[in-house]
Amino acid sequence: MSVRRLAPDEVQPASFAFTPENLAWAQKTIGQYPSERKASAVIPLLWRAQEQHAYWLPKAAIEYIADMLDMPYIRVFEVATFYTMFQLQPVGKKAHIQVCGTTPCMLRGAEALIKICKSRIHHEPFHLSDDGDFSWEEVECAGACVNAPMIQVFSDTYEDLTPESFETVLDAFARGETPMPGPQNGRRGAEPEGGALTLRDLSYDAPGGTALAEKPRAVPAAQSAPVETGPSAAALALAAQEEAAIKAKLAMLAADASPEQKADAVGTRPQGLPAARDAKSDKLQRIKGIGPVNEGKLQALGIFHFDQIAAWTREEIRWVGTYLSFPGRIDREEWTVQAKALAAGTPSVKE
Ligand code: FES
Repeated sequence: MSVRRLAPDEVQPASFAFTPENLAWAQKTIGQYPSERKASAVIPLLWRAQEQHAYWLPKAAIEYIADMLDMPYIRVFEVATFYTMFQLQPVGKKAHIQVCGTTPCMLRGAEALIKICKSRIHHEPFHLSDDGDFSWEEVECAGACVNAPMIQVFSDTYEDLTPESFETVLDAFARGETPMPGPQNGRRGAEPEGGALTLRDLSYDAPGGTALAEKPRAVPAAQSAPVETGPSAAALALAAQEEAAIKAKLAMLAADASPEQKADAVGTRPQGLPAARDAKSDKLQRIKGIGPVNEGKLQALGIFHFDQIAAWTREEIRWVGTYLSFPGRIDREEWTVQAKALAAGTPSVKE
């Protein structure tokens, strides 16, 4: 890791002060700690100062926060220089790329990402690109080793990168967009590629469902009928193909296009119901991949029942996937297959 020093005097502002809004927030944050422990607020305050000051901390901001917290300057300086989340020099206006270079990421291709940073941004870290839009540095483990290799850009991480997907992420930032953070290879979180392989019983935590511990033990594969373990290769290929086609169409839209405009450009909005039948919506969260937020969004579209999702056409899947900002995921997670089984009253879709 490189030596972390304050920026040279010529780029340091003469003074720093929180905006009235940030000041009110800072005072509230400090008030959450006992008065003799208010130094505990140092990291959130430094972070807020960094966000206010174009994502880098000038010396004046460090001293301003030290004064607010009655801390010696050197103590706050130690915090700011220790953590790589704090930038001490001006960074790219559109993105400061922090490439993890620790062993797991290095073994999975971080070197290739650094090479791209050198060729596209600057041959040395902590220097701005010619247009001032980008800067980069190598950092130590950012805690996403299971999704190596990865980068961090301001508050977001981009994981499971290849040189190609990294270039795509950089292209999006260059266009002024904020690409979707998280794994860039289609997998969800840190699940295995192709989807979860364990604890897939949909009745596990459903109301009235059977707890896993009460279930009969699985019969070894050799003695049982073939067990479906996830989307087929054909389904995954279809998802990837559609995702690429959708991305190409979305790239032609204005950067500030609304979710509806994006969805309308790639598919057909499914017919919703004015209200749930018998005033009782199905628990859509029983479909793996639908959480409370997306359940709410689906209900706002008039989608209340498993049979509605089971009947989605390809056009409608594209519309909903794009509207919810994850094109391709409905196929990868087989929402329609799950919904069909749930609509038919099948307690467990995947076992
Ligand atoms: S080694 Fe890269 S995130 Fe941990």
